[in-house]
Amino acid sequence: RKKVIIDTDPGIDDAMAIMLAFQSPELEVVGLTTTFGNVPTAMATRNALCLREVAGMAHVPVAQGERVALKGEEKQRIADFVHGSDGLGNINTSPPNGHAIDMGAAEFMVKMARENPGQITVIALGPLTNVAKAIEQDPEFVKNVAQIIVLGGAFFVNGNVNPAAEANVYGDPDAADAVFISGADIIVIGLNVTTQMLMTEEDLNHLRDDGGPVGEFLHKAAQFYLQYHRDYYDMNAIYVHDPTTILAAIDPSVFTLKTGAVRVITEGRFKGTTLMNALGTKRWNSVTEWCGKPPIKVAFGVDSQRGMQVIKDR
Ligand code: BDR
Ligand code: CA
Repeated sequence: RKKVIIDTDPGIDDAMAIMLAFQSPELEVVGLTTTFGNVPTAMATRNALCLREVAGMAHVPVAQGERVALKGEEKQRIADFVHGSDGLGNINTSPPNGHAIDMGAAEFMVKMARENPGQITVIALGPLTNVAKAIEQDPEFVKNVAQIIVLGGAFFVNGNVNPAAEANVYGDPDAADAVFISGADIIVIGLNVTTQMLMTEEDLNHLRDDGGPVGEFLHKAAQFYLQYHRDYYDMNAIYVHDPTTILAAIDPSVFTLKTGAVRVITEGRFKGTTLMNALGTKRWNSVTEWCGKPPIKVAFGVDSQRGMQVIKDR
């Protein structure tokens, strides 16, 4: 089984992704690490602790991560209008019994990768601050980690914060840029594919009826997120961004991937925009921002029927 650490800002689709990973025999979740994004970091930690208990997986360690982006922006964009002010659809979850471990998220990633070289996959479902910190802390990390799978960016399509930027990259563009050019083995799943992955209201009702206590929990949490999609996108269905990303760990053949260097606009009006050299490095070999930067794998297509079937079945 593939050992995975899920770095997360739960988050309703994060909650679905974590439950999907727990239900997948191909994966062994060896840790949850938390970050700010949909909610502040302390609440993300609370929610991660709560989710592992709902799933009956209270033995999985939770490590709390960074509270602010690399450049320490005090004014963060917290997506309470998408996920509710508690991050889980305002469903009044009871406080978790357990606690986070006495080690930071980046430190935990570094330690796990060092102790299990080539065996740990990090799946990042929020802003990339913790992953960037791990890379900064240990120069060997990019070699020790088997792969980093990122939910982030919007490749040649609109974002979701604004026409240019996707939320996780926007949350810490400096971290995203640093991770993308770090030289680690990276797969990026962006909005260009996740917007092809939808669960309808009917699918959610099936989850409630046939999915046991976890299904009921997710159905309840998802109602707020569903209402957001009705209001903002005029559809009676939700995007399953973060669960789609788990699929890349389970079976990357669900995606068609293109390879190229990716940079991020880190400041100014178009902050958070992902820019990929999708035509190949040779073609623009005089453009220094991309030239010599390690190519990474970016999803350009997804077998949405096959992928959605796995998500729904589990
Ligand atoms: C990302 O932003 C959050 O709302 C989701 O949890 C997902 O990780 C999508 O842009
Ligand atoms: Ca997320």
